Amino acid sequence: MRVRKAVIPVAGLGTRFLPATKAIPKEMIPIIDKPMIQYIVEECVGAGIEEIIFVTARGKDAILDHFDISFELETTLRAKGKADLLKICTEVSQMVTVTAVRQKEALGLGHAVLTAKSAVGNEPFAVLLGDDLVVSKVPCIRQLISVFEKREQPVIGVMQVPREETGKYGIIGGKEIAGSGGKLIQVKTMVEKPKPASAPSNLACPGRYVLTPKIFELLEKTKPGAGGEIQLTDALAKLPDNGGLLACIFDGRRYDTGDKLGYIEATIAFALQRPEFKKSVRELLTRYSQ
Ligand code: UTP
Repeated sequence: MRVRKAVIPVAGLGTRFLPATKAIPKEMIPIIDKPMIQYIVEECVGAGIEEIIFVTARGKDAILDHFDISFELETTLRAKGKADLLKICTEVSQMVTVTAVRQKEALGLGHAVLTAKSAVGNEPFAVLLGDDLVVSKVPCIRQLISVFEKREQPVIGVMQVPREETGKYGIIGGKEIAGSGGKLIQVKTMVEKPKPASAPSNLACPGRYVLTPKIFELLEKTKPGAGGEIQLTDALAKLPDNGGLLACIFDGRRYDTGDKLGYIEATIAFALQRPEFKKSVRELLTRYSQ
């Protein structure tokens, strides 16, 4: 059971980034010089994914253009002998096979995943959110795929969060799998944004999943939940009684780039990782914190 395809929903309205997202998809906002979405696609490529299925919407064409050949730009760079820049551009367009399905209305993340049903077909697939970056040695989604390949059950990536922050995430509850070194949990319950007192644990699901077509059956029966949207969490919560669901505590650092502070944090962290910026950014941070 190989995982060849990844679904990346990018059809949301991106209201937390208005007015920037009035005419630009949130996922195209760069962290330094690379759009957020490219980091996610690179994670997929690093994990052996062969095809990306974007769930897009009106106004999101720039995402597809970004991964397509830019004939005019590439011809100009070639003619001017700008080999380095040409390489940067062609690497993006040759990175991976990209297809798109259209979500006509932003009816929720669950609905977005369901929109990809026929593009996925009858095989397991990965889901990554377009505004959640994870920096790790082994790509986060690869860590989940490895668990899926061994255990043949859907897997969601989870991370520990402070108790007082459970209200921001889908939180799981379950039993640790013996011999997994505390890394794997057989999920029993999944609750969307619980208050700290009623949260089943402090293990939060930020936006990495490996699923099977079973999820489509469950999504088709899922009624609109919180915010009038069809929630992926509501369908995932039914998996423990429908074949099982695992959670894997992934190794890596996650940045919520859909949130303004998370975006600022990611920009600083990524700049500090770049040899050409490291020293100057440190100096700037010192200067501005005085
Ligand atoms: P968010 O909750 O971050 O929503 O969705 P959003 O619309 O992008 O941003 P805000 O909250 O208004 O600022 C998580 C992911 O699910 C996608 C989004 O594009 C984002 O990558 N999504 C959400 C869809 O594709 N369709 C939807 O109906 C909802």
